[in-house]
Amino acid sequence: MAAQHALQRWFPWAAWPWIFNAPMFSIANGKMAAEVTKAGGIGMVPAGMDPRPESPHIAALDEYLGTASQLLGHDSSSGKPLPVGVGFTTMRATAEIYKVSAVPVIVKHKPAFVWLFGSHPSAYGELVVAFTPSGPGGSDAGGHLWAQAGSIMTLVPEVVEALKSEEDLKMREIPVIAAGGIVNGKGIAAAIALGASGITMGTRFITCPESDAVPYVRRAILRSTDGGATTTVSQIHDIIPGYPIYPSPYSGRALLHKGIQEIENGVSLEDVTAAFHKAKEEGDESRLVTFAGTGVGLIDNPVPAGEIVTQATTEALEVIRKLKSVL
Ligand SMILES: Cc1cc2nc3c(=O)[nH]c(=O)nc-3n(C[C@H](O)[C@H](O)[C@H](O)COP(=O)(O)O)c2cc1C
Repeated sequence: MAAQHALQRWFPWAAWPWIFNAPMFSIANGKMAAEVTKAGGIGMVPAGMDPRPESPHIAALDEYLGTASQLLGHDSSSGKPLPVGVGFTTMRATAEIYKVSAVPVIVKHKPAFVWLFGSHPSAYGELVVAFTPSGPGGSDAGGHLWAQAGSIMTLVPEVVEALKSEEDLKMREIPVIAAGGIVNGKGIAAAIALGASGITMGTRFITCPESDAVPYVRRAILRSTDGGATTTVSQIHDIIPGYPIYPSPYSGRALLHKGIQEIENGVSLEDVTAAFHKAKEEGDESRLVTFAGTGVGLIDNPVPAGEIVTQATTEALEVIRKLKSVL
């Protein structure tokens, strides 16, 4: 219960089952975050991958927070935090540079919290952490994740137990926020049964009307079935388009695409990369990489962000009631 109290204290506008939208780079934005927050969830925007002060990602962060502030009618002079969070990727040493790039944006808009994904110790430095959820991202997760990971089925209970048994952690209220493969209320109920205090959904939000996903990505997700078979984890997803950002031991889960199939069939990385760039120049989308989780098979319509939160909450409650009635 202590973790639930902590969530209530940190996110007074939100309610059980504490649904976060993932701070997906190039997908999540101020509108999505505002709609999630309005619906009783916890909206997040991404800080992007390029921490330089002149980076378009930092300019986008400023814009996302400005949009969320406007849509939520937030008065920045009220002293109250803006009820959304910012997701940072911190697998590189970014603290020094963020001091002069992202931190001024954070100070300007005062989001309620920051979320740190990654594990480079010097990335944390001066960032002000309003709350630090432990967010185990299981192997079903879309986007970047540990190359070696179990699903939330085993990861969540193990993390919950570890938090209870560590002497210096057990007195702290650390909510466990599960992520990876959750796309509806059934998944939420399951995550809660495993011991999570709340959940994050990424893939589920990619096709919502508020998202910045390009039409090709939306179509690819809506038509995909059986995500275990139609997505795969590989660093090749980053290597082909030339994204240098995620070092080992990270990898990424994306829909299967031509390039990865060709590499498996013995085509050289050089040739596949050249074909990718040629196709991109010619407007041929068939080689694009669509980061997505194994939940894709359960997503077949583009539900608005706020409705995703309300529908999933209602379904989670129904599932839990049904389970109770079985006893
Ligand atoms: C397209 C896409 C982009 C993502 N970008 C980010 C990101 O920029 N920062 C981050 O912390 N997590 C990112 N993630 C990972 C999510 O935070 C989350 O762990 C994941 O989406 C959960 O699994 P699910 O997609 O099955 O819901 C991304 C995920 C996807 C699908």
